[in-house]
Amino acid sequence: MTSDLHQRVTRLSLEDKARLLTGRTGWVLHAATEIGLLPITVSDGPAGVRGTEATQDEHSAGLPSPTAVAAAWDTELMERVGRFFAAEARRKDVDVVLAPVLNLHRSPAGGRHFECFSEDPHLTAELGAAFVRAVQGEGVGACPKHFIGNETEHERTGYVSRIDERTLREVYLPPFEAVLDAGAWTIMAAYNGVDDGVETSTMTEHRRLLTDLLKGELGFDGVVFSDWAATRSTAPSADAGLDIVMPGPGGPWGRVLVDAVHAGEVDESVIDDKVVRLLRLAGRVGKLDRDTTTAVEGEGERVILREVGSRGHVLLRNEGDVLPLSDSVRTVALIGPNAVDAYTQGGGSAHVNAKYLVDPAEGLREVLPENVEVTLVRGGDPRRLLPVVTAEHLTEADLTLYDGDGEAIDLPEVPGGAFHINAREGTERAELVASLTLTEPGTHRVEVAAVGAHTIRVDGEIVSESDHRASVDDILESRHAHPEGPRVEIEVPEGAEPRTVGIGVDMEVGDFGGFGRGVIVQIRHAPPGPTVEEEIQEAVRAAETSDAAIVVVGTNNEVESEGYDRPTLDLPGSQDELVRRVCAANPNTAVVVNAGAPVLLPWLDEVPAVLWSWFGGQEYGHALADTLTGRAEPTGRLPWTLPRDHDDVPILDTHPVDGVHDYDEGVFVGHRAYDRDGIEPHRPFGFGLGYTDWRIDDAALSAPHTTAGPDGLVTEPPTITVTLTNTGRRPGHHVVQVYLEPPVDEDGLPRPPRSLAAFASVRAAPGETVTAHLDVPPRALAIWDPAEHARRTPEGAYHLAVGSSSRAIAHRLSFDVR
Ligand code: BGC
Repeated sequence: MTSDLHQRVTRLSLEDKARLLTGRTGWVLHAATEIGLLPITVSDGPAGVRGTEATQDEHSAGLPSPTAVAAAWDTELMERVGRFFAAEARRKDVDVVLAPVLNLHRSPAGGRHFECFSEDPHLTAELGAAFVRAVQGEGVGACPKHFIGNETEHERTGYVSRIDERTLREVYLPPFEAVLDAGAWTIMAAYNGVDDGVETSTMTEHRRLLTDLLKGELGFDGVVFSDWAATRSTAPSADAGLDIVMPGPGGPWGRVLVDAVHAGEVDESVIDDKVVRLLRLAGRVGKLDRDTTTAVEGEGERVILREVGSRGHVLLRNEGDVLPLSDSVRTVALIGPNAVDAYTQGGGSAHVNAKYLVDPAEGLREVLPENVEVTLVRGGDPRRLLPVVTAEHLTEADLTLYDGDGEAIDLPEVPGGAFHINAREGTERAELVASLTLTEPGTHRVEVAAVGAHTIRVDGEIVSESDHRASVDDILESRHAHPEGPRVEIEVPEGAEPRTVGIGVDMEVGDFGGFGRGVIVQIRHAPPGPTVEEEIQEAVRAAETSDAAIVVVGTNNEVESEGYDRPTLDLPGSQDELVRRVCAANPNTAVVVNAGAPVLLPWLDEVPAVLWSWFGGQEYGHALADTLTGRAEPTGRLPWTLPRDHDDVPILDTHPVDGVHDYDEGVFVGHRAYDRDGIEPHRPFGFGLGYTDWRIDDAALSAPHTTAGPDGLVTEPPTITVTLTNTGRRPGHHVVQVYLEPPVDEDGLPRPPRSLAAFASVRAAPGETVTAHLDVPPRALAIWDPAEHARRTPEGAYHLAVGSSSRAIAHRLSFDVR
């Protein structure tokens, strides 16, 4: 087959070959029908399949975000999710899905935390491999990303992650190795650079990691895509092992790559290898010679998305069995900013245009008996920026685009108060003329923001001027999503006529590099309304007069998104105070956290019940209502450690120092650092309660000793048999977790006191005893020894701690490596 692909490549000119190596568009690759290559389509992302330029406005199924799915700790569930992805991809004519994200939660403050699975390499590896197996099993490609060292967002295109050899091999590489073992057809090279101790290069130019390690040692025969607009060079990136530059058209390859070959900077065989890889991918996804793709039969989306939602919910506290809600409840106060405006996807490239959203109120009203009354109250707006102006207040908005000579060349339709309009080549300047009509008496607040050089006027007066030239960084750092702009207050006196406010924005058309040219503007407005304190008082009154209160607190798109990290783990606004005051008003209160990454919950042990509900996708409200009412069990376990306090967090600050992130904590990531430092987490890694009770009766090991083979790995890895009983009154799931406690290494390499070695999700009826078999992978026992550049398994006495979280150990088994 490979020789046939090589044969095909010989039929193309150098120019034709080079053309194939940059996207034809942002999402579609070039075809070369003369050698049988049909166009391949790729699409984001890990929380649904968004589609291409042509189809992204068509709705997609919005899934719970990856942390939500990961929290079920269930590879079979992940495989079902993977197959559902494949069906969505085929429905939207997508051949390669840009997922899963395998970067780790090195810091809880990482902005894309919600897109990655876990702080733990083993959990991430198992779940990532399950996803890839399932998606590709249906003939759709997966693109695990972002290879490698892209754990945080701040200055993501510029920083260098300094990762020593052992840490790379033991912590950050294993998830990628697992997806390669699962047969991944493509990989995405990250924006950042890596200093691996030998070479320091940006990842699209990292020869040692792309060519020597990935394609050489690990035998990857697929395609390395660049992250979008990540490639900055021609010969260095082409030579290093990058195969396809995205997005296109344009970018640093194309004609310049041809010249580089002519100049002897890149060997033509390097180009040929890339085209062979592309053809191999085409063969794999059914786009070689003729389109052999077929529709994939997926599970009914309402059912699977709703089920996955509850499976990931993590019950953090449930004093006095406040949850599930009692049948005697007749009135429910549903309170909180995220009850009114649930955040069901994170921001950035993972976002899809979801088909619909079931919000918490709709979900509860549907699931609760008809005679139960649900009252919805916000309890204070936690957002920094004002809401986008509504059509009712925006009474005029005309945009004119001008060329360099000042000729008006386009009058695009303005779709609302916030827009990103693409502009064709030749457009240089844009002018927006808009009017707001303010009717309600009182103080109105108005914000106007534009990305790039601009002058903004409100009622003829200049309120903002900037000569900042827009660039690709405005997109990559997500400034386009929440542009800052001045705020003005405008008074409408009682009994006065509506007030018309004139807004004028004169701006330069932005050049966003690979993301095209365009203008980005937001007009935001808040009419007169109650203060936060007044809203909290209203929430307290609603709680006092209801049988039960449910407070949904959380983050929003200003807080959790691609492009930036979080400066604090506190809940935004006055939500902590809202929780405390509502709980004081009604002891029958459950707090629901709607966030994708850890937020501090200073009241966690003071309030009756707390449920972590993640970003639940379009079925969020149904899944939440199922869990709150007990129709479904919250079976999730934390895939990361919940800190008590900022001071306890091992890595909080995500700002690179002099452009470098030094991963000098080494192998002590997440819960391993808490164990090393003896810090009590607020809730440990692996924690989750559920609605039933479990007893781990017994755990037994296959053999009391084993030996290491010539590759440094044990020849007969331990297998463990665990019996456990559901001692409660409901059927339920439990996640059995096995942690390795290694002996002290004689050569002095520090090892985590406890690291996750195996896990299994089991289900049992009330009173039932079930058995789980868990295999400890040989690599879990091994160290990567930087002195030998190889793995070895130290001899000595090992323990395997079997339990229900990294801090709740029921049995400890021992064996020797001789
Ligand atoms: C993100 C990738 C994504 C790509 C395409 C980049 O900014 O880092 O994860 O797949 O954009 O949207």
